[in-house]
Amino acid sequence: MTHIQPFITRRQSMASKMPAGIAIIPTAAEQLRNRDAHYPYRFDSYFYYLTGFREPESVLVIIAATDKTPVKQILFCREKDQEREIWDGFRYGPEAAKEAFGFDEAYSIAKLDELMPKLLADQPAVYTMLGQDRAWDQRVVDWINRVREQMRSGVIAPGAIHDCRSVLDEMRLIKGMDELQIMQRAADISTQAHRRAMQTTRPGMREYQIEAELLYTFYRHGAQAPAYTSIVAGGANACVLHYVDNRDELKSGDLLLIDAGCELDGYASDITRTFPVNGKFTAAQKAVYELVLAAQAAAIAQVKPGNHWNDPHQAALNVLAQGFIDLGLCQGSVEAVLESEDYKRFYMHRTGHWLGMDVHDAGEYKQNGEWRLLQPGMVLTVEPGCYIRPADNVPEHFWNIGIRIEDDVVVTQTGHELLTVAAPKSIADIEELMQ
Ligand code: GLY
Ligand code: MN
Ligand code: MN
Repeated sequence: MTHIQPFITRRQSMASKMPAGIAIIPTAAEQLRNRDAHYPYRFDSYFYYLTGFREPESVLVIIAATDKTPVKQILFCREKDQEREIWDGFRYGPEAAKEAFGFDEAYSIAKLDELMPKLLADQPAVYTMLGQDRAWDQRVVDWINRVREQMRSGVIAPGAIHDCRSVLDEMRLIKGMDELQIMQRAADISTQAHRRAMQTTRPGMREYQIEAELLYTFYRHGAQAPAYTSIVAGGANACVLHYVDNRDELKSGDLLLIDAGCELDGYASDITRTFPVNGKFTAAQKAVYELVLAAQAAAIAQVKPGNHWNDPHQAALNVLAQGFIDLGLCQGSVEAVLESEDYKRFYMHRTGHWLGMDVHDAGEYKQNGEWRLLQPGMVLTVEPGCYIRPADNVPEHFWNIGIRIEDDVVVTQTGHELLTVAAPKSIADIEELMQ
């Protein structure tokens, strides 16, 4: 059973951050895959963050306190339905959900269109997800119009609609202890999956067989899903950044890049490891690998309160640019390689992103035009890489080497903590585990 107190606290916090008015936050819709088959259901992250409630067809309403009335927290959800529960399983129903999830009131979702105009009456402002779903936007406007129709009887309709995400993104960006504990457990499952992949991989296997080992480990330990489609990319496939085909044969002498992480109780993990299919790095692979590892260490060292979001990326770039020159991949000075962005031939993505309920999590990266400052409780990935496609002016022994090393990092009071240390990444540790 999910502990509900953090969710109640977040709803109160949300209420105190919207000066006056009403927040209306729907969960995600079920998505049809084909004919009668649906995609596995995943709730909306904002909705879950504030409720802990996992059923589809649910809407959260929070009414801010006024001089006369306290905060009110309301859930709309599916009715109990014996017939449907025989087919689809348990559903709470409003009464039980109200008790179990700490709401003041709960109603059937079938009553949403009837009750929303009443709840919106005399509220100065609406906070909702704007621009995410046209049908939802229209529905909110229709409710407001229904309130306007009663204006001659003295009712006041909301005069403003705000995007609730401007408030919620900032809340989600700073993780609480309860969230960090779940993220550590998600990371633990994912590190086990990467270890198992290293131990299982042999030349002649197919990429999907290794993907199966990852998914086995995720589900075996209680994760509900992969947090994103696993990338299992052997040899040249590693140079395709979003490769997800995972069908090719793994060849001795090639590297295998795996970017995979599970989702546990709504929180993502996101890990990349790169290792030799036959368990032994070649000299050329070693040279590039050590460079990416050094870039990652330099980036992680920059993760501490008060540093800017961009500092880890800049640290990684400095190391990579020097390394590309040393390896004969780029020419000239580090300054020139950075200035011309010549490094982008081999490193074309950024060094990380926020991590949380979404793998690319909520939160701005800049504030007032400046990279924002890192604060305790933020979680980010640090994931430099190097991808060398065959080209005329590139030494041939580096062709088709694609390497990324990615860890999940928490900003702490004094610096940082890695959630994903248990996945080996030094050459010695990887070769030892693969023996
Ligand atoms: N796995 C997605 C990413 O690394 O950003
Ligand atoms: Mn990532
Ligand atoms: Mn990743």
